[in-house]
Amino acid sequence: MELLPKDSLETIRNADKIVFLTGAGISNESGIPTFRGEGGLWKNFRAEDLATPSAFQKDPNLVWEWYDWRREICQKAKPNPGHLTIAKWQKKMKSVSLITQNVDGLHPRAGSHSLIELHGNIFRARCTKCSEKFHLVNDGFDHSGLKYCKHCESLLRPDIVWFGEEYDQTLLTKSWELCKQSQVVFVVGTSANVSVPANLAHTAIRNGAIGIEINPDETNLTPSMKHHFDGKSGEVLPQIWKEVFPNESLE
Ligand code: OAD
Repeated sequence: MELLPKDSLETIRNADKIVFLTGAGISNESGIPTFRGEGGLWKNFRAEDLATPSAFQKDPNLVWEWYDWRREICQKAKPNPGHLTIAKWQKKMKSVSLITQNVDGLHPRAGSHSLIELHGNIFRARCTKCSEKFHLVNDGFDHSGLKYCKHCESLLRPDIVWFGEEYDQTLLTKSWELCKQSQVVFVVGTSANVSVPANLAHTAIRNGAIGIEINPDETNLTPSMKHHFDGKSGEVLPQIWKEVFPNESLE
């Protein structure tokens, strides 16, 4: 059965700009638990309890322990057909942009080199004093627990945007621009509970883009979408690819 009607397929094929906005759901099929779904709790803590500056101030060991646990899962995980379809699309068309809330590094590992990681990357740390950044694996910080700066010996923190913190302004401005200019926005695997990414999708739609959501659940973005597919992104995205490019294999 066809997923998309002719007019939407034409809009996608003729689009000057397409934006993919992804969240934890796209990595679920790679074995990484989402934040608000089953398996999202760690020792009974929610992400909102741990991903904050005050949680880190109160108990940096606990916060590092959580990120060390997640990082290990991310390291073992492999990109799935959802990540790979987006990467292939970007390789085929320069006009396809990717903005992700995910910090798991699976999009770049799938081959998406041009992407905006809005919430940072779980494989990076930065110094709480001198702001120097380190790669946790390549720079030899691949142990669990507290880590200290190689330059000033101050405590390192995950290089992640926590609840209540400012986004990187350059990345945010670029994201707004991309969304404003897009004719199609794919919203994939996000609960849209965090306001900035949700507003990015709204901005694209207010500026004339058609919205296509892929998520087994409905979200507060669903009513603004032209299409909602309640399936897994690793299955629906390759199917959409086949409809848009019937003569091109994904291999
Ligand atoms: P959530 O855990 O809030 O939502 C994941 C969404 O993915 C849910 O709506 C699921 O229904 C959907 N989902 C699950 N499996 C799926 C699949 N196979 N295919 C498609 N969709 C699927 O994760 P995010 O929306 O990404 O921030 O959460 C946003 C932010 O809140 C995260 O970046 C993180 C978190 O706290 C930080 O860590 C700073």
